[in-house]
Amino acid sequence: MLTGKHILLIIGGGIAAFKSLDLIRRLRERGAHVTPVLTKAGEAFVTPLSVSALAGTKVYGDLFDLTDEADMGHIQLSRVADLVVVAPATADLMAKMAGGLANDLASTLLLATDTPVLIAPAMNVRMWQHPATQRNIATLAADGVACVGPNDGDMACGEHGPGRMAEPLEIVAAITAHLTTGPLSGKRILVTSGPTHEPIDPVRYIANRSSGAQGAAVAQALMALGADVTFVTGPADAPPPEGAHVIPVQTAQQMLMAVQDALPMDAAVFAAAVADWRVAGASTRKLKKSKDGMPNLTFAENPDILKHVAQMSDGRPPLVVGFAAETDDVIENATAKRVRKGCDWIVANDVSVATGVMGGADNTVSVIDDTGIENWPKLSKIEVAQRLAARIAKALG
Ligand code: C5P
Repeated sequence: MLTGKHILLIIGGGIAAFKSLDLIRRLRERGAHVTPVLTKAGEAFVTPLSVSALAGTKVYGDLFDLTDEADMGHIQLSRVADLVVVAPATADLMAKMAGGLANDLASTLLLATDTPVLIAPAMNVRMWQHPATQRNIATLAADGVACVGPNDGDMACGEHGPGRMAEPLEIVAAITAHLTTGPLSGKRILVTSGPTHEPIDPVRYIANRSSGAQGAAVAQALMALGADVTFVTGPADAPPPEGAHVIPVQTAQQMLMAVQDALPMDAAVFAAAVADWRVAGASTRKLKKSKDGMPNLTFAENPDILKHVAQMSDGRPPLVVGFAAETDDVIENATAKRVRKGCDWIVANDVSVATGVMGGADNTVSVIDDTGIENWPKLSKIEVAQRLAARIAKALG
């Protein structure tokens, strides 16, 4: 999806600059042209030679390079790109951007550009949380600068918290979302997918046969129409769609938390096969065979994530889509389920063993909304996803 796109990549001076080398590689693998600009501080972390070798082109670094000025002025440099990416965006670079300073090539390009800008902040947790940085990020957001990350985690400085630069593939995803234009451009959509695993003890769990294929296909189809997709997935067999913000979870309770954290969204599609029950008080030790007989497992009800989100009074996504995997009275059960859960649409399908839907490549679904029932023919899961994505685009349009 990045074939032929031009990315101007500004590499700031932070330890995360090493990840920008991988970012260049990932972008080029996907067909993008990368023009790198390395700040003076950036040169302390990665060498111009390695950046240029990976980018397969010259590295720009000095504002007053007269050959470049004659060849291609700095204003020009910023304007031939489809997107300017700053990774890592240090606290200093962000402050310069927010203040409109232009005292080196990177800041001058950023002030001179009329191309969209995406930053991937990376800094110490205290620096990130400092009111000055928070003011700057708010100013940049108001100026229309997009941001990916930072992530929470261990930092090179030994501290823990927000400030780690987003991973190269997350940055690629954000870039792809920016550059893919389609009817869903600018729309944020949540997709849940896969089964959940509910622990019995540290080695055993309750699961189901969901492969995650339909959910992954829905996410992929939404992204192909330009959506920015957050994909909350249980442990599925199908690989997560490339380019989505993937949040892996194990249990229904974790899935609910991840969904709540991801909101607000323009739409949410609940394709996950969430376990309805979990073992109450799962053992922290492996259960042993005993002469007293079988373990006595008691169950607790899991949260209904779809119902919870569909019935939110504040912050409910404008379009909430559920799936109903049924083995009998498919339409009748799914119609009742749509009302009970409070979602806008239900995609109903027959998952009885004879249909081969669970784990298979095809699906025959009916889409139920407040206007009635639409029966779709037997299609591949990918085609079902594409039709659903097109329907969502029409509804959000
Ligand atoms: O009730 P049932 O499991 O048949 O409902 C299916 C729909 O509800 C699916 O969209 C599924 O993702 C969602 N669901 C959920 N949380 C649950 C159970 C189901 O989000 N605990």
